Amino acid sequence: MNQSDYDLLNSQLHALLDNEHDALAASGNFVALLYNALDDVNWLGIYVLRGDELVLGPFQGKPACTRIALDEGVCGAAASTQQTQRVADVQAFPGHIVCDPDSRSELVVPLFSHGQLIGVLDIDSPLTRRFSETDQSGVEKLCDSFCEMQEKRKYFI
Ligand code: SME
Repeated sequence: MNQSDYDLLNSQLHALLDNEHDALAASGNFVALLYNALDDVNWLGIYVLRGDELVLGPFQGKPACTRIALDEGVCGAAASTQQTQRVADVQAFPGHIVCDPDSRSELVVPLFSHGQLIGVLDIDSPLTRRFSETDQSGVEKLCDSFCEMQEKRKYFI
């Protein structure tokens, strides 16, 4: 997808979620929208920060590990550094957690509410080097929109 595809997806995200006040319903549709819009993705979902670990939230794809410590895997790296992790080849990432053996590359974006980490969005692809800089910035903007909408709701998930 190019930048204008991501801009269009952002408009669709707002149309889908702006009037939904339930955080769980909104989060489920957020991951479903992205999963169906992105090519060559085999898993996409949210891990929610619960205390000092990440717990599986709404997702699309095969069943996955339910809990990830902050010092484990690509998701833990994104959460503990509060920086997006764009991994071209997961087999070359020390500590990568294999949930779906088909996964070859991964993009994990931290999610924030009022400046505090609330979880991560994890996207897996069966292709190495699936995610470009354009994908990273496009998905980060979608996550920003999602988090801004979440801030208006009473709960996260
Ligand atoms: N591969 C991730 C674990 C989550 S699954 O990909 C769904 C990681 O290393 O953190």
